[in-house]
Amino acid sequence: MSISEAGGSAFTLDTAFKPETIGDEAVEQMVAILDLQDGAPSIERLRAWALAAADVRPGDICVDVGSGTGTMTRRLAALARVDSTPGKALGIEPNVTLREIAVRRAAGARSHAQFGPGLATDLPLPDGVADVVWCERVLQHVPDPAAAIAEIARVLRPGGRAVLLDSDHESRVESDMDPDVARALTTAFMSQLANPRAARNIPRQASAAGLVVDPDIGSSALVFPEEVLAAGRMHRMAADRAVADGLVDAATADAAVQALGDAARHGWAFSAVTVFGFVCRKP
Ligand SMILES: C[S@@+](CC[C@H](N)C(=O)[O-])C[C@H]1O[C@@H](n2cnc3c(N)ncnc32)[C@H](O)[C@@H]1O
Repeated sequence: MSISEAGGSAFTLDTAFKPETIGDEAVEQMVAILDLQDGAPSIERLRAWALAAADVRPGDICVDVGSGTGTMTRRLAALARVDSTPGKALGIEPNVTLREIAVRRAAGARSHAQFGPGLATDLPLPDGVADVVWCERVLQHVPDPAAAIAEIARVLRPGGRAVLLDSDHESRVESDMDPDVARALTTAFMSQLANPRAARNIPRQASAAGLVVDPDIGSSALVFPEEVLAAGRMHRMAADRAVADGLVDAATADAAVQALGDAARHGWAFSAVTVFGFVCRKP
């Protein structure tokens, strides 16, 4: 199912990607978003860069924190476990339904990836076991990201690498919308995230956790496909929140969502957020 077809009222800004969110419609929508992001060429470019920078090798023990549907866990498993090498990849995912989907997809792909429950701030692993910890677009949902990064540092072995990929939602750009209205929608969207400016704080939080951040920081804009913009659901949710928060009046919000949708139907809409990539090493 594509995101534009995914419907249902159970999916809202404040339920998206929460560990406790269940229910068919909400999960379908989350999976649709993750599949869409998996298919985005810009995300693939950032992932390929980060995989190369982290130098994942056969025999490595890899942990994917907040693994979602397990796409990157499967990729890490394929790199770490080659033929009979003892490497492995473990996805830690607190959302029970996403975890079940990840297990099913790994079985379908004949992947060695394994999955278990856990929170980024309380990883079910001993100290110093991991060669690589991958944590992609998770910290924006975590109320205490500094504690999560300290926990990631704890489970890394000396010489291990943490790959932290995350957005900074203040970098949102929207075409065909008055900038002040676009800012109101972004403000409303960000108010529903635990840590909407996740990326900019990662170097400080990683340094405080004793990690050394590579000077080459990756970035790639997640450009939302026109089908998403034409469907209008993503901006509708932000607009409804902005109206409820008194940031913009309903008529202005409706007109903004309509204008972006119209632009998408004409084929010239543009909406994006920047995702940054940090490779951090444990001395
Ligand atoms: C946007 S999804 C990203 C999934 C996956 N990393 C990817 O890039 O495809 C965010 C994920 O973080 C998980 N998550 C939310 N809060 C978390 C927490 N406190 N600890 C670990 N994972 C969390 C969600 O359940 C969801 O799977």
